[in-house]
Amino acid sequence: MDIEDYIEAHISPEPDRLYQLYRETNLTRLYPRMCSGHLQGRILKMLTEMIKPRRILELGTFTGYSALCFAEGMPADAEFHTIEIDDELIDDVRELFDSTPWGNRMYIHVGDAIDIIPTLGDGWDLVFIDANKRHYTDYYEMLLPRVNKGAYIFADNTLWSGKVVDRTANHDAQSAGVCNFNDLVAADARVEKVILPLRDGMTIIRKL
Ligand SMILES: C[S@@+](CC[C@H](N)C(=O)[O-])C[C@H]1O[C@@H](n2cnc3c(N)ncnc32)[C@H](O)[C@@H]1O
Repeated sequence: MDIEDYIEAHISPEPDRLYQLYRETNLTRLYPRMCSGHLQGRILKMLTEMIKPRRILELGTFTGYSALCFAEGMPADAEFHTIEIDDELIDDVRELFDSTPWGNRMYIHVGDAIDIIPTLGDGWDLVFIDANKRHYTDYYEMLLPRVNKGAYIFADNTLWSGKVVDRTANHDAQSAGVCNFNDLVAADARVEKVILPLRDGMTIIRKL
């Protein structure tokens, strides 16, 4: 048993619909590793319950795993919005959302997050940045004025397989995007922030 198996054996079990979704994603999708999975999913659900957000925005739906974790943890009067550029994913995700108790409060927006964010209004309480790594700083600068004071922004993959610590590397565009984002957030006095060494790294940011 490795440490990941040990952790998963000692935390709340993965709900069956998420277990099935993770399995299906691994069988049918090209980059299944993008799917959040058991541990991260339970953390997202628990943090959402703690924050009690009324409006949640996710950038990067993929097969809907993290979306269902936010929806599971959100208050009864909250709404969840997610943006996905790959329209081939959308029919399955819509069907999945509609099969849950939260489907009528889960909104999918198809297109580039950069174009869609300004159309969705302000007042977000919780945002999950998990789309194109090249544009993390753009997402952040667009979103910070649009979230409420005290709101949280979670950004996924901020350790980027450890590539962020290798400053001598000739970084590809995605790695450079993540490094620029981390530097920007670290220097930003408008927010409080921590990096959780969870999976590929997840930064939690709170707007002051
Ligand atoms: C890491 S996956 C999301 C995983 C999902 N949040 C989860 O945890 O299960 C990233 C997703 O972002 C989408 N994406 C990439 N660029 C995007 C963009 N510019 N706007 C919206 N979505 C984008 C990809 O198609 C992909 O489905």
